[in-house]
Amino acid sequence: METLGRVLVIVPTYNECDNLPKIAERLRAALPEAHLLVADDSSPDGTGEIADALAADDDHIHVLHRPVKQGLGAAYIAGFRWGLAEGFDVLVEMDADGSHQPEELNKLLAALADGADLAIGSRYVPGGRVTNWPASRELLSRGANLYTRIMLGLPVRDATAGFRAYPAATLDKVGLDDVESQGYCFQVDLTLRTARHGLRVAEVPITFVERTVGTSKMSGRVMAEAFWRVAQWGVTGLPTRLRRRRG
Ligand code: GDD
Ligand code: MN
Repeated sequence: METLGRVLVIVPTYNECDNLPKIAERLRAALPEAHLLVADDSSPDGTGEIADALAADDDHIHVLHRPVKQGLGAAYIAGFRWGLAEGFDVLVEMDADGSHQPEELNKLLAALADGADLAIGSRYVPGGRVTNWPASRELLSRGANLYTRIMLGLPVRDATAGFRAYPAATLDKVGLDDVESQGYCFQVDLTLRTARHGLRVAEVPITFVERTVGTSKMSGRVMAEAFWRVAQWGVTGLPTRLRRRRG
């Protein structure tokens, strides 16, 4: 995948002390050329210090320490800004808890090499899978995707997915300055922005492996933000969609 240039994998962390060393090792083994940026929100469990220790031993590992927990979206925006300033050509999003398998990252990069402007590792296209999720969580995720598709008319099966690869050019075009999403709806936000710019979104099937260690940071607040923001985008986005369909 040399033609794609330098790849930065951004991993946001909040209390992932047991997961971070494992995911870092798997990523470094799967894609030795890629760099890793850990974006930690001052985790009370010491994840930030563990990241520092990993970075001290490996010049492909970097750490962004953020003073307070501000949500996954805010951590990614800070990570994207860091990566763009450092001149990376591809910026990848990946969870720390093993749900996104570094060994599948090559499929996302292959989609970019094929011309996609955003590659999403999708659970809900043929070949995609989720393991070990309770029915309640799968229902929530599928419901969120259905709601998003109805509200926004996005032709994407897994718009909330968090395993993604963006060429730097896509982030430059889409712009990050006015992104307000703090939590997980950041994923839908950027999917929508990418699609509205007429850019090509590709979904590649992945197997999402539910974490075995630590706890999810999904919360009522995260869900509420996603619900009202998507509703808002649905309303304000309508004229754009109609115009595009007519034009
Ligand atoms: N820095 C930082 N700040 N990291 C965070 C924060 C935060 O406020 N909240 C969550 N994270 C990190 C976690 O430590 C983990 O590495 C990653 O973001 C995902 O968090 P999880 O809590 O494990 O997410 P999930 O498994 O419930 O949700 C997954 O599926 C969602 C959609 O169904 C993720 O892939 C989400 O990105 C995705 O939207
Ligand atoms: Mn998780």
